[in-house]
Amino acid sequence: MKSPVRKMFDGIASRYDFLNHFLSCYQDVLWRRYCCKRLKKMVSAGLLAEKSQAVESQDKTPRDLNKVRLLDLCGGTGDFANTFRKIFESGYKCGCACKCVSENKASRNFVVDPAVIGDFSYGMLAEVKPKKIDAHAVQLDAMKMPFAERQFDVILNGFGMRNVPDARGALLESYRVLDAGGYLCVLEFFSPRNLFNKFFYKVLAPLFIPVMGAFFSGKREAYEYLVNSIIRFLPVDQFCKMAEECGFEVKQVKMFDGGISFGVFLHKPGNA
Ligand SMILES: C[S@@+](CC[C@H](N)C(=O)[O-])C[C@H]1O[C@@H](n2cnc3c(N)ncnc32)[C@H](O)[C@@H]1O
Repeated sequence: MKSPVRKMFDGIASRYDFLNHFLSCYQDVLWRRYCCKRLKKMVSAGLLAEKSQAVESQDKTPRDLNKVRLLDLCGGTGDFANTFRKIFESGYKCGCACKCVSENKASRNFVVDPAVIGDFSYGMLAEVKPKKIDAHAVQLDAMKMPFAERQFDVILNGFGMRNVPDARGALLESYRVLDAGGYLCVLEFFSPRNLFNKFFYKVLAPLFIPVMGAFFSGKREAYEYLVNSIIRFLPVDQFCKMAEECGFEVKQVKMFDGGISFGVFLHKPGNA
């Protein structure tokens, strides 16, 4: 039987991207870009270390270190995977005041293997095709993925952890399919902790998000769910603790816009 969450995402899929950008005033685009730029730096540094280790030990043939195997988990319409490819393959001139242009010139570029965009909503995955992303859309459950161990170098999870019934299960499963030395980046709305965020999520958001969602998608309940799921989810520090219990090292926690969202960068140790 279809889960109610899956049915809900199927129902809003065609308006999902537009509403994401509109409700976040395009901040979601900047958050994804930041995450991909940080990941590029982390992966560059990690792979260079792996290469020099392999050369030193000489008994191990290094795999093609310019290639990145990407899984966009709970990837929905594929926006995160699309941003990742642009940034990893050619740099990305976003025109903002940040240092990204010079940073990207300085860092190496990669070849991203056809990405895997994994999601349990067929409706969301159907929106990937018109974007012509070099990716395979795979219908899957984040807590039980149809992949062998160590298949990916990077896993993205944009606003998905909060939606799975068992975040620990999804973390463990991500750890299993991630190669040693790989990264999991979780971009998420965590349960509010400070006064500003409590006010935003408990007072402001319930007033305007369901109304806007209903106006543009006709699905008020989906946008009520969005706000409630944030309040019900873990605070970011508890999520990081859980990730550590699952074997990850927490490399960085980046707060966006005063804590409206966070980017959590997790690393699977190279000797795991
Ligand atoms: C808020 S959307 C995020 C989509 C996209 N990652 C983004 O950055 O916009 C959450 C996605 O998680 C998916 N999802 C929820 N539970 C899931 C599960 N157990 N397994 C796989 N996907 C799931 C939903 O279908 C939905 O597409």
